[in-house]
Amino acid sequence: MPKIVKADAANIRKAASIIRDGGVVAFPTETVYGLGCDTFNERAALDVYRIKRRPSSNPLIAHVLDVQMAKRVAIGWDVRCQRLAEAFWPGPLTLVLPRRAEVAPSSIGGRSTVAVRSPSHPVARQLIEAVGSPISAPSANRSGRISPTKAEHVELELADEPDLMILEGGTCTVGLESTVLDLSRSRPMVLRPGSVTKDMLMSVIGDVAEPLFVGQSGSPGTHLRHYAPRTRAEIVDTSGIDHRLMSCPEPVAVLAFSADVVPPPHVAIIMPSDPREYAMKLYDALRHADSLDRSLILIERPKDKTGIWEAIQDRLRRAAV
Ligand code: TXA
Ligand code: MG
Repeated sequence: MPKIVKADAANIRKAASIIRDGGVVAFPTETVYGLGCDTFNERAALDVYRIKRRPSSNPLIAHVLDVQMAKRVAIGWDVRCQRLAEAFWPGPLTLVLPRRAEVAPSSIGGRSTVAVRSPSHPVARQLIEAVGSPISAPSANRSGRISPTKAEHVELELADEPDLMILEGGTCTVGLESTVLDLSRSRPMVLRPGSVTKDMLMSVIGDVAEPLFVGQSGSPGTHLRHYAPRTRAEIVDTSGIDHRLMSCPEPVAVLAFSADVVPPPHVAIIMPSDPREYAMKLYDALRHADSLDRSLILIERPKDKTGIWEAIQDRLRRAAV
């Protein structure tokens, strides 16, 4: 099993030296846990792809302390970037920009662009500071599976990596992966919705193009089935739950806003009605539902599609393909 360790000063120093020496460490961010390596180390990035079983074409995000460090990986830092960083960094917004030559090509799937974000989680920040250089990291799950929002999720997900160090950082407070905004094309475009919403982005930079969510090649990690539990998942309107459950021969798990719609012996996992709380709980709830080992996970469809619900609806769709 990997080792979960307290994120005290000594362990952060140790984690930083592992990364500086070309190794890989799992660490918390405010969105989800990441699997980090030195952005400038070609071989270390290949190791991250191996551990994650990620297709080599799917690029990683470089995590930086601030704008100054962002400029060590990206070029073309213009007034839009400056405004966005002032408004949303540190935080769950990733910017895609033309890359510097020093960025390890394997860490960005050989692309001419790099994704960069400055996380707000204090442990992530202490780690980047201790490394003194950007950390490239995907979410610390196997490719295609549910992102980890607790250290224990990483431990289970990467159980066959005995030497992996996992820095303990509690439950991720955002719980959904960052918003990915592509600034390398003529009009800025959201490649992955997140808790920084399109409206929030537009209020800072004006124009943002409609996102292309399905089957797009701009952001390879956003293919349709993603963030998925092992168990088949289905999304149902509140009014259809009753009928759907009647056709289930065995008890199933239901992510629902109220236990009232889930008659026993089906198992209700109650979801919060506040979108921030829903987002924070979603991946843990899906993992819990998965662990019950039933034939189906039913998910009550949230009615709202605006604000953070847009990102939640996106992840639910991908979990249920
Ligand atoms: O919140 C997050 O973003 C978390 C934490 C750990 O920071 N990281 C994360 O990384 O979700 P990952 O690798 O699981 O997802 C990164 C997404 C993928 O959809 C990837 O295709 C996209 O960002 N991406 C990365 N670099 C890109 C680039 N140069 N161009 C287009 N899309 C890119
Ligand atoms: Mg991921």
